[in-house]
Amino acid sequence: LQGRGGLTFNSAIEKVTASRVWVNGEMKKWDEATVHISSSIVNYGAGIFEGIKAYQGSKENYFWVFRLEEHIERFYESAKVHRMDLPFTRERLKEAVISVVSDNRFSEDVYIRPIAYRGGFFELLWGLSPVEVAIFAIPNPREERLARMDKGIRCCTSSWRRIPDSAMPPRAKACSNYMNSRLAKNEARSFGFDDAVLLTINGKVSEGSGANIFLVKNGLLITPSVTSDILEGINRKTILEIGCNDLGLKIIERDIDRTELYLTDELFLSGTVAEVTPITSMDNILVGDGKVGTITKKIKDMYFNIVTGKVDKYKHWLTPAH
Ligand SMILES: Cc1ncc(COP(=O)(O)O)c(C=O)c1O
Repeated sequence: LQGRGGLTFNSAIEKVTASRVWVNGEMKKWDEATVHISSSIVNYGAGIFEGIKAYQGSKENYFWVFRLEEHIERFYESAKVHRMDLPFTRERLKEAVISVVSDNRFSEDVYIRPIAYRGGFFELLWGLSPVEVAIFAIPNPREERLARMDKGIRCCTSSWRRIPDSAMPPRAKACSNYMNSRLAKNEARSFGFDDAVLLTINGKVSEGSGANIFLVKNGLLITPSVTSDILEGINRKTILEIGCNDLGLKIIERDIDRTELYLTDELFLSGTVAEVTPITSMDNILVGDGKVGTITKKIKDMYFNIVTGKVDKYKHWLTPAH
C-alpha cells in the first residue's frame, strides 16, 4: 500500500503512531492525544492551527525549522481573531515545536502541526471550555514533493468562492475555514484536476485551496494583495523577498482577474505544503507552453537552498532542532 508522501502506508503509520505529541505542556503517546466527541473542536471546528516544516540537514537527526518565529506569531494572531487566549508563551511554544521534532527522531523532512482548540465537554451544557494546545508531527519525504514540483500540477477555477473576511476570515488560520478549502479541493479532484484556485466573492483571484498563488508575466511577479481573502502565507512573504532581492523581479500585489491565469507566462502555488508548486494548466488551458516556467524553477531552487541552510544571508529564517 502506498501512503501519502511516498512512504509505504505501514511504515508511515508505524512511525507516526510511535511518535509523541506535545499536549498542554506534556509529551504524550500518540494514542493518548485525544479529545472528547462532545467538544467544540469536534462539533464546531473551534480551533486554530499552524503548519510548519522542518527540513532535514546533512547530519542525522538535525533539522532546520523554517521561519518558526513567524509561524508562532501567526498562531497568536489567529487565536486573537477568534478570541482565544493561548495559555503558553511564544517561547514555550517554540521550544515545544523543537522538542516534537528532536524527540521523535524522524528520518525525513517533518511537517509540524500546532493546534489550539476548545477540547472540553459539550459547550451548551458546560459553557466555553478552556483553550488547549497540542503539537504533533508527521514525516514528509522530500523526493515525492520534488517530483511533483518538477512536473507541475493541473488546476481548475473552483465553483466555490473563497470565504470573505466579513464572514469567516481566511487571515486567521482557523480549523473551520478548511471546510471551504475541502469543498474546492474535493470538487477539483472529482473533476480530475489536482487542485483548485478560488475566486473571491467579487470574482477576483484569491488563492489555492491550501496555498497562495503567483503569476509571472513579462518579468513581473504578481500576486493577489492581502485584502483578497487570503491566508497571508509565510512562504508568500518569502517568495516576494527572494523574487525582489535575489531575482530582481518587480513585485506587484493587486487584484487579479480569472482570465489573467490563462494568459500569464508562468503560474505557481506557494506554501508550507506546496513549497513552490508550478501550475502547468488552468481549466485545461495550458499556462505558457504547458511546461514548468524558468523563473518558477529558479525560485524553487533558491527556496530549497534557503530551507536546507545553504544560503547564509537567510540562515536567520532557520531554527535548528536536534
Ligand atoms: C489557505 C492557505 N493559503 C495559503 C497558505 C500558505 O501559507 P504558508 O506559506 O504560511 O504555509 C496555506 C498553507 O498553510 C493555506 O492553507
